[in-house]
Amino acid sequence: MIANPDIADAQQIRAFLDAQGYDSTTLTETLGRARPPAEGEQQQMFDDSRKITTPNVLVRLFLLGSPVDVATYEEFIPQPVRELFERVGLTSVSDGMVDARVVIIPVEDLLFASDAFQILGSDEAAEFILPASTHSANFLRLLTMRGKVNTALDLGCGCGIQALFAARHSVSVVATDISPRALAYTRFNAMLNNIHNVECLEGNLFEPVAEQSFDLIISNPPFVISPSESFVYRDNAMELDSFCEALVREAPAHLNTGGHLQMLSEWVEIAGESWQDRIAGWIRGCDAWVLHARPLAPASYVQQRSRDISVNSDATDDWTAYFEKHQVRAVHPGMLTLRRRAGDNWLHVQSLPGDVVSPAGQVIADGIDAVDFLEACDDDSLLEATLKVADDLAAETMQSDGKVTGIYLKLNNALATDAEIDGPVAAFLNLFSGEREVSDCVNEFAATTDADADKLRGDLLSIIRVFVSRGFLVPIDTDQA
Ligand SMILES: C[S@@+](CC[C@H](N)C(=O)[O-])C[C@H]1O[C@@H](n2cnc3c(N)ncnc32)[C@H](O)[C@@H]1O
Repeated sequence: MIANPDIADAQQIRAFLDAQGYDSTTLTETLGRARPPAEGEQQQMFDDSRKITTPNVLVRLFLLGSPVDVATYEEFIPQPVRELFERVGLTSVSDGMVDARVVIIPVEDLLFASDAFQILGSDEAAEFILPASTHSANFLRLLTMRGKVNTALDLGCGCGIQALFAARHSVSVVATDISPRALAYTRFNAMLNNIHNVECLEGNLFEPVAEQSFDLIISNPPFVISPSESFVYRDNAMELDSFCEALVREAPAHLNTGGHLQMLSEWVEIAGESWQDRIAGWIRGCDAWVLHARPLAPASYVQQRSRDISVNSDATDDWTAYFEKHQVRAVHPGMLTLRRRAGDNWLHVQSLPGDVVSPAGQVIADGIDAVDFLEACDDDSLLEATLKVADDLAAETMQSDGKVTGIYLKLNNALATDAEIDGPVAAFLNLFSGEREVSDCVNEFAATTDADADKLRGDLLSIIRVFVSRGFLVPIDTDQA
């Protein structure tokens, strides 16, 4: 585990890494990536860092996790830095070889140290701290709304990636974790990045912040649904999805009015039950905007999760049996955004068609505004509203055997929200130029068909509501236009 360094140590380490170009821009330019190699990338990264230089020695140690012989290390890394690395616990020397005890991963302009992957094969494996390059960490980072807040909480901080990014738009951040090892990394990483508004507290769920409430709570919790308790970063001792449920149930008591919880979650669909009802049953006193990724059948889930970290076949059999015992039909992954608000609360579910690779917090904030707009509009006021097709909406004609089968809509935003519609609905959508009230568009479309006017009006308003909630149609504030 990392030692307890002081700020001067951390700053010296940072200055040395910066001077050697150990940052995301330089590493991406020289190696094609600023993260540890994924499966199949190892050899290429070795080849690309073949020439022995100080930056490549750092890459070998802290990205590739590959030992370096002492003679090379002493030639390329200055003695005071070597002493510093060893004192802080970043390296260890034995049998003429230097090993890194951590990976150091740049994310944007921040650096994050966390456990070296060899720890997974040791008796410390259960305590492994996730690297900042993992998909879940960056998925949540990109989805986090970045409006300025006073207070933020990162529950289950690990290496501190969510806490340190939150520190940039929060007056103060509390980072909690049940693992003292995680808190040591978060403290060190805060110093490494010259961030001073993060307080680290140890404990289970909300226990360390029992009396506190926040404007923003972020959590990438140990959400994996399994019978195992092998790894603190992903497993939890509670049945099925009860850990995430507990977090969602307790969060409103720690949110200021108008404050948000953003968390990753996985939840089960039990035979004969609706997964929407299951999630809805967890939420009290908050509006909820749920980003729903593609669900997995139990067998695919076990297979996929077992690949994340090698799990032996007995364990996968136990895992499959566990799902069967609980009659789990599917596992649903997603990101929940809750906003504490008194009154009648709403729940909106939005499908995520692909991955998220660029900042999407603003898309979520806009999505919440859109649902607020719809909730405030009865049908009469919706008819009086002015709407416009979103600037970044693209439409593509779908064809099969030379025949037009529909229109594919896709928003060119960070969530790439999409839908398939038919020709008449596309024609209706095209009427929304932002210059006329909804009632004019509805009347113009109604004049092109001989359908029952009342029923058509109801159907068209339902379509408009779906389009607004997905961001395809955007309300225009005619007072300001
Ligand atoms: C999936 S990791 C996320 C780490 C980091 N926030 C990130 O995004 O990469 C989950 C974290 O939750 C912590 N954790 C596990 N059980 C916990 C509990 N009962 N209370 C608080 N934190 C817990 C783990 O130690 C781990 O650091």
